[in-house]
Amino acid sequence: MKVSLLGTGLMGFPLARRILKAGHPLTVYNRTQAKARPLVKMGATLAASPREALRCADLVVLMLSDAAVIRKLLLGAPVRELLRGRSFIQMGTIGPDESKAVAAQIKKQGGDYMECPVLGSIAEIRNGKLILMFGGSETRFRHHREFLKCLGRPPIRVGPIGAAATLKLALNQLIASHIVGFSQSLALIQKSGVEVSLFMAILKQSALYAPMFEKKLPRLLKRDYGNPNFSTRNMLKDVRLFLAAAQAKGINAPVLAAARNLLASTLRAGLTDVDYSAVYEVVRG
Ligand SMILES: NC(=O)c1ccc[n+]([C@@H]2O[C@H](COP(=O)([O-])OP(=O)(O)OC[C@H]3O[C@@H](n4cnc5c(N)ncnc54)[C@H](OP(=O)(O)O)[C@@H]3O)[C@@H](O)[C@H]2O)c1
Repeated sequence: MKVSLLGTGLMGFPLARRILKAGHPLTVYNRTQAKARPLVKMGATLAASPREALRCADLVVLMLSDAAVIRKLLLGAPVRELLRGRSFIQMGTIGPDESKAVAAQIKKQGGDYMECPVLGSIAEIRNGKLILMFGGSETRFRHHREFLKCLGRPPIRVGPIGAAATLKLALNQLIASHIVGFSQSLALIQKSGVEVSLFMAILKQSALYAPMFEKKLPRLLKRDYGNPNFSTRNMLKDVRLFLAAAQAKGINAPVLAAARNLLASTLRAGLTDVDYSAVYEVVRG
Protein backbone atom coordinates (compact mmCIF):
# COMPACT_ATOMS: atom_id res chain seq x y z
CA MET A 1 0.00 0.00 0.00
CA LYS A 2 1.34 3.42 -0.98
CA VAL A 3 0.92 6.07 1.70
CA SER A 4 1.10 9.86 1.63
CA LEU A 5 1.22 12.03 4.71
CA LEU A 6 0.19 15.68 4.63
CA GLY A 7 1.63 17.77 7.48
CA THR A 8 5.05 17.00 8.89
CA GLY A 9 4.77 19.27 11.94
CA LEU A 10 5.48 18.24 15.53
CA MET A 11 3.30 15.14 15.25
CA GLY A 12 3.42 14.41 11.52
CA PHE A 13 7.20 14.17 11.37
CA PRO A 14 7.63 11.35 13.92
CA LEU A 15 4.54 9.62 12.54
CA ALA A 16 6.15 9.66 9.09
CA ARG A 17 9.23 8.05 10.58
CA ARG A 18 7.14 5.22 12.01
CA ILE A 19 5.39 4.68 8.67
CA LEU A 20 8.78 4.42 6.97
CA LYS A 21 10.14 2.07 9.63
CA ALA A 22 7.13 -0.18 9.08
CA GLY A 23 8.21 -0.47 5.44
CA HIS A 24 5.44 1.44 3.68
CA PRO A 25 6.41 3.50 0.63
CA LEU A 26 5.77 7.05 1.84
CA THR A 27 5.34 10.43 0.16
CA VAL A 28 5.26 13.50 2.39
CA TYR A 29 3.96 17.01 1.82
CA ASN A 30 4.46 20.00 4.09
CA ARG A 31 3.74 23.66 3.42
CA THR A 32 7.19 24.50 4.79
CA GLN A 33 9.20 22.02 2.74
CA ALA A 34 12.34 22.33 4.86
CA LYS A 35 10.58 20.59 7.76
CA ALA A 36 9.80 17.53 5.63
CA ARG A 37 13.15 17.29 3.84
CA PRO A 38 15.01 15.23 6.51
CA LEU A 39 12.46 12.46 5.87
CA VAL A 40 13.86 12.03 2.35
CA LYS A 41 17.11 10.70 3.83
CA MET A 42 15.00 8.13 5.68
CA GLY A 43 13.39 6.96 2.43
CA ALA A 44 10.40 9.25 1.91
CA THR A 45 9.55 11.00 -1.34
CA LEU A 46 8.96 14.72 -1.04
CA ALA A 47 5.89 16.09 -2.85
CA ALA A 48 5.84 19.71 -3.95
CA SER A 49 2.07 20.00 -3.60
CA PRO A 50 -0.90 18.18 -2.04
CA ARG A 51 -1.90 17.18 -5.58
CA GLU A 52 1.43 15.48 -6.15
CA ALA A 53 1.18 13.76 -2.75
CA LEU A 54 -2.28 12.40 -3.54
CA ARG A 55 -1.20 11.11 -6.94
CA CYS A 56 1.43 8.94 -5.25
CA ALA A 57 -0.89 7.23 -2.75
CA ASP A 58 -3.82 4.91 -2.10
CA LEU A 59 -3.98 5.98 1.55
CA VAL A 60 -3.52 9.58 2.70
CA VAL A 61 -2.78 10.40 6.34
CA LEU A 62 -3.69 13.94 7.42
CA MET A 63 -1.81 15.48 10.35
CA LEU A 64 -2.69 19.12 9.81
CA SER A 65 -3.53 21.94 12.23
CA ASP A 66 -7.26 22.20 11.79
CA ALA A 67 -10.29 21.68 9.57
CA ALA A 68 -9.72 24.94 7.67
CA VAL A 69 -6.29 23.71 6.56
CA ILE A 70 -7.73 20.31 5.57
CA ARG A 71 -10.38 22.04 3.46
CA LYS A 72 -7.78 24.33 1.91
CA LEU A 73 -5.45 21.48 0.94
CA LEU A 74 -7.98 18.85 -0.18
CA LEU A 75 -11.21 20.42 -1.21
CA GLY A 76 -10.04 23.12 -3.63
CA ALA A 77 -10.43 22.68 -7.39
CA PRO A 78 -6.97 21.34 -8.34
CA VAL A 79 -6.97 18.55 -5.72
CA ARG A 80 -10.67 17.68 -5.41
CA GLU A 81 -10.67 15.55 -8.56
CA LEU A 82 -8.00 13.30 -7.03
CA LEU A 83 -10.08 12.34 -3.99
CA ARG A 84 -11.87 9.59 -5.94
CA GLY A 85 -10.79 6.07 -5.04
CA ARG A 86 -8.45 7.18 -2.27
CA SER A 87 -8.74 6.66 1.50
CA PHE A 88 -8.10 9.46 3.97
CA ILE A 89 -7.28 8.98 7.65
CA GLN A 90 -7.61 12.28 9.51
CA MET A 91 -5.47 12.28 12.67
CA GLY A 92 -5.42 15.93 13.79
CA THR A 93 -7.82 17.35 16.36
CA ILE A 94 -10.90 18.83 14.71
CA GLY A 95 -14.52 19.17 15.85
CA PRO A 96 -16.98 16.29 15.37
CA ASP A 97 -19.19 18.36 13.06
CA GLU A 98 -16.14 19.49 11.10
CA SER A 99 -15.06 15.86 10.73
CA LYS A 100 -18.50 14.81 9.50
CA ALA A 101 -18.58 17.72 7.03
CA VAL A 102 -15.14 16.86 5.60
CA ALA A 103 -16.23 13.19 5.39
CA ALA A 104 -19.34 14.18 3.42
CA GLN A 105 -17.36 16.37 1.01
CA ILE A 106 -14.76 13.65 0.39
CA LYS A 107 -17.48 11.04 -0.07
CA LYS A 108 -19.24 13.30 -2.60
CA GLN A 109 -16.05 13.26 -4.68
CA GLY A 110 -15.80 9.46 -4.45
CA GLY A 111 -13.17 9.26 -1.70
CA ASP A 112 -13.25 7.45 1.61
CA TYR A 113 -12.72 9.27 4.94
CA MET A 114 -12.04 8.05 8.46
CA GLU A 115 -11.01 9.94 11.59
CA CYS A 116 -8.34 8.71 13.94
CA PRO A 117 -7.38 11.46 16.42
CA VAL A 118 -4.64 10.61 18.87
CA LEU A 119 -3.77 11.08 22.52
CA GLY A 120 -0.10 11.44 23.41
CA SER A 121 2.65 13.51 21.92
CA ILE A 122 6.10 13.25 20.35
CA ALA A 123 7.54 11.00 23.09
CA GLU A 124 4.57 8.64 22.89
CA ILE A 125 4.99 8.36 19.10
CA ARG A 126 8.67 7.56 19.56
CA ASN A 127 8.07 4.86 22.17
CA GLY A 128 5.02 3.34 20.44
CA LYS A 129 2.58 4.42 23.16
CA LEU A 130 0.43 6.80 21.11
CA ILE A 131 -3.30 6.17 21.72
CA LEU A 132 -5.31 5.97 18.49
CA MET A 133 -9.08 6.52 18.54
CA PHE A 134 -10.85 5.46 15.36
CA GLY A 135 -14.10 6.93 14.07
CA GLY A 136 -15.61 5.17 11.07
CA SER A 137 -17.36 1.94 10.13
CA GLU A 138 -16.35 -1.42 11.57
CA THR A 139 -15.44 -2.60 8.05
CA ARG A 140 -13.06 0.29 7.47
CA PHE A 141 -11.61 -0.20 10.92
CA ARG A 142 -10.83 -3.84 10.16
CA HIS A 143 -9.36 -2.83 6.81
CA HIS A 144 -7.00 -0.17 8.21
CA ARG A 145 -6.26 -1.59 11.67
CA GLU A 146 -3.05 -3.31 10.60
CA PHE A 147 -1.64 -0.10 9.12
CA LEU A 148 -2.65 1.98 12.15
CA LYS A 149 -0.87 -0.45 14.46
CA CYS A 150 2.47 0.84 13.15
CA LEU A 151 1.71 4.28 14.60
CA GLY A 152 1.21 3.39 18.26
CA ARG A 153 -0.87 1.26 20.58
CA PRO A 154 -3.48 -1.01 18.96
CA PRO A 155 -6.17 1.38 17.68
CA ILE A 156 -9.54 1.52 19.44
CA ARG A 157 -12.75 1.94 17.46
CA VAL A 158 -14.90 4.52 19.24
CA GLY A 159 -17.87 4.59 16.86
CA PRO A 160 -18.95 6.30 13.65
CA ILE A 161 -17.27 9.42 12.24
CA GLY A 162 -17.57 12.17 14.84
CA ALA A 163 -17.46 9.85 17.86
CA ALA A 164 -13.66 9.70 18.05
CA ALA A 165 -13.42 13.47 17.44
CA THR A 166 -15.81 13.98 20.36
CA LEU A 167 -13.82 11.68 22.65
CA LYS A 168 -10.62 13.49 21.72
CA LEU A 169 -12.13 16.86 22.68
CA ALA A 170 -13.38 15.40 25.98
CA LEU A 171 -9.80 14.35 26.74
CA ASN A 172 -8.15 17.57 25.59
CA GLN A 173 -10.32 19.88 27.68
CA LEU A 174 -8.85 17.98 30.65
CA ILE A 175 -5.34 18.95 29.51
CA ALA A 176 -6.35 22.63 29.51
CA SER A 177 -8.17 22.36 32.83
CA HIS A 178 -5.25 20.51 34.43
CA ILE A 179 -2.57 22.95 33.31
CA VAL A 180 -4.57 25.98 34.44
CA GLY A 181 -5.46 24.37 37.78
CA PHE A 182 -1.88 23.29 38.41
CA SER A 183 -0.54 26.71 37.38
CA GLN A 184 -2.85 28.40 39.90
CA SER A 185 -1.69 26.14 42.75
CA LEU A 186 1.99 26.43 41.84
CA ALA A 187 1.78 30.22 41.55
CA LEU A 188 0.35 30.47 45.07
CA ILE A 189 2.98 28.06 46.44
CA GLN A 190 5.86 29.96 44.81
CA LYS A 191 4.62 33.43 45.65
CA SER A 192 3.98 32.43 49.28
CA GLY A 193 7.42 30.90 49.77
CA VAL A 194 6.15 27.37 50.49
CA GLU A 195 8.58 24.60 49.40
CA VAL A 196 7.63 23.35 45.93
CA SER A 197 9.09 19.91 46.74
CA LEU A 198 6.81 19.62 49.77
CA PHE A 199 3.80 20.67 47.72
CA MET A 200 4.62 18.06 45.09
CA ALA A 201 5.31 15.32 47.66
CA ILE A 202 1.94 15.84 49.33
CA LEU A 203 0.11 16.23 46.01
CA LYS A 204 1.64 12.95 44.79
CA GLN A 205 0.28 11.07 47.80
CA SER A 206 -3.23 12.34 47.13
CA ALA A 207 -6.02 11.42 44.74
CA LEU A 208 -5.61 14.85 43.12
CA TYR A 209 -2.31 14.00 41.48
CA ALA A 210 -1.98 13.68 37.71
CA PRO A 211 1.33 12.59 36.11
CA MET A 212 1.21 15.60 33.76
CA PHE A 213 1.82 17.88 36.78
CA GLU A 214 5.25 16.37 37.32
CA LYS A 215 5.93 16.34 33.57
CA LYS A 216 5.24 20.07 33.22
CA LEU A 217 6.79 21.19 36.54
CA PRO A 218 10.39 21.66 35.24
CA ARG A 219 9.14 23.95 32.45
CA LEU A 220 7.10 26.01 34.89
CA LEU A 221 9.94 26.31 37.40
CA LYS A 222 12.41 27.34 34.69
CA ARG A 223 9.74 29.37 32.88
CA ASP A 224 11.08 27.80 29.70
CA TYR A 225 8.51 26.79 27.12
CA GLY A 226 10.79 26.15 24.14
CA ASN A 227 10.86 22.92 22.09
CA PRO A 228 7.14 22.38 22.49
CA ASN A 229 5.37 19.05 22.45
CA PHE A 230 2.04 20.75 21.93
CA SER A 231 1.64 24.44 21.16
CA THR A 232 -0.43 27.09 22.95
CA ARG A 233 -2.02 27.84 19.56
CA ASN A 234 -3.33 24.27 19.22
CA MET A 235 -4.38 24.07 22.88
CA LEU A 236 -6.53 27.18 22.40
CA LYS A 237 -7.97 25.72 19.19
CA ASP A 238 -9.01 22.56 21.04
CA VAL A 239 -10.56 24.46 23.95
CA ARG A 240 -12.59 26.51 21.48
CA LEU A 241 -13.69 23.32 19.72
CA PHE A 242 -14.76 21.79 23.04
CA LEU A 243 -16.69 24.91 24.04
CA ALA A 244 -18.53 24.93 20.69
CA ALA A 245 -19.40 21.23 21.00
CA ALA A 246 -20.46 21.68 24.64
CA GLN A 247 -22.60 24.71 23.85
CA ALA A 248 -24.39 22.77 21.12
CA LYS A 249 -25.34 20.17 23.74
CA GLY A 250 -26.41 22.73 26.37
CA ILE A 251 -23.47 21.92 28.65
CA ASN A 252 -22.28 24.67 31.00
CA ALA A 253 -18.51 25.09 30.86
CA PRO A 254 -17.68 28.50 32.39
CA VAL A 255 -14.46 27.21 33.98
CA LEU A 256 -13.17 26.12 30.58
CA ALA A 257 -14.29 29.45 29.10
CA ALA A 258 -12.02 31.13 31.67
CA ALA A 259 -9.18 28.78 30.64
CA ARG A 260 -9.81 29.81 27.02
CA ASN A 261 -9.42 33.47 28.00
CA LEU A 262 -6.14 32.73 29.79
CA LEU A 263 -4.84 30.85 26.74
CA ALA A 264 -5.93 33.69 24.45
CA SER A 265 -3.98 36.13 26.68
CA THR A 266 -0.98 33.80 26.44
CA LEU A 267 -1.16 34.02 22.65
CA ARG A 268 -1.50 37.79 22.79
CA ALA A 269 1.67 37.84 24.90
CA GLY A 270 3.44 36.26 21.91
CA LEU A 271 3.67 32.76 23.46
CA THR A 272 2.04 31.11 20.45
CA ASP A 273 4.22 28.34 19.08
CA VAL A 274 5.74 27.40 22.43
CA ASP A 275 4.57 24.71 24.85
CA TYR A 276 1.02 25.36 26.08
CA SER A 277 2.25 25.29 29.70
CA ALA A 278 3.28 28.90 28.94
CA VAL A 279 -0.21 29.75 30.22
CA TYR A 280 1.59 29.78 33.59
CA GLU A 281 3.06 33.16 32.63
CA VAL A 282 -0.43 34.66 32.48
CA VAL A 283 -1.75 32.81 35.53
CA ARG A 284 1.11 33.79 37.85
CA GLY A 285 0.73 37.47 36.92
N1 LIG B 1 1.47 18.07 19.41
C1 LIG B 1 0.73 17.23 20.09
O1 LIG B 1 1.09 16.77 21.17
C2 LIG B 1 -0.62 16.78 19.55
C3 LIG B 1 -1.19 15.65 20.12
C4 LIG B 1 -2.41 15.19 19.61
C5 LIG B 1 -3.03 15.86 18.59
N2 LIG B 1 -2.45 16.98 18.06
C6 LIG B 1 -3.18 17.64 16.95
O2 LIG B 1 -2.58 17.20 15.74
C7 LIG B 1 -2.58 18.25 14.76
C8 LIG B 1 -1.15 18.59 14.37
O3 LIG B 1 -0.47 18.99 15.55
P1 LIG B 1 1.07 19.38 15.59
O4 LIG B 1 1.42 19.50 17.02
O5 LIG B 1 1.83 18.50 14.71
O6 LIG B 1 0.98 20.85 14.97
P2 LIG B 1 2.08 21.67 14.15
O7 LIG B 1 3.45 21.26 14.53
O8 LIG B 1 1.68 23.09 14.29
O9 LIG B 1 1.83 21.18 12.64
C9 LIG B 1 0.73 21.65 11.91
C10 LIG B 1 0.82 21.19 10.47
O10 LIG B 1 -0.22 21.85 9.71
C11 LIG B 1 0.41 22.60 8.64
N3 LIG B 1 -0.30 23.84 8.37
C12 LIG B 1 -0.74 24.75 9.27
N4 LIG B 1 -1.36 25.77 8.65
C13 LIG B 1 -1.30 25.51 7.32
C14 LIG B 1 -1.77 26.17 6.16
N5 LIG B 1 -2.45 27.33 6.25
N6 LIG B 1 -1.55 25.59 4.96
C15 LIG B 1 -0.87 24.42 4.86
N7 LIG B 1 -0.41 23.73 5.92
C16 LIG B 1 -0.62 24.26 7.14
C17 LIG B 1 1.81 22.91 9.15
O11 LIG B 1 2.64 23.26 8.08
P3 LIG B 1 3.95 24.17 8.37
O12 LIG B 1 4.99 23.25 8.92
O13 LIG B 1 4.27 24.75 7.05
O14 LIG B 1 3.51 25.21 9.38
C18 LIG B 1 2.15 21.59 9.81
O15 LIG B 1 2.48 20.61 8.86
C19 LIG B 1 -3.34 19.41 15.42
O16 LIG B 1 -4.70 19.31 15.11
C20 LIG B 1 -3.13 19.15 16.91
O17 LIG B 1 -4.12 19.75 17.71
C21 LIG B 1 -1.25 17.45 18.50
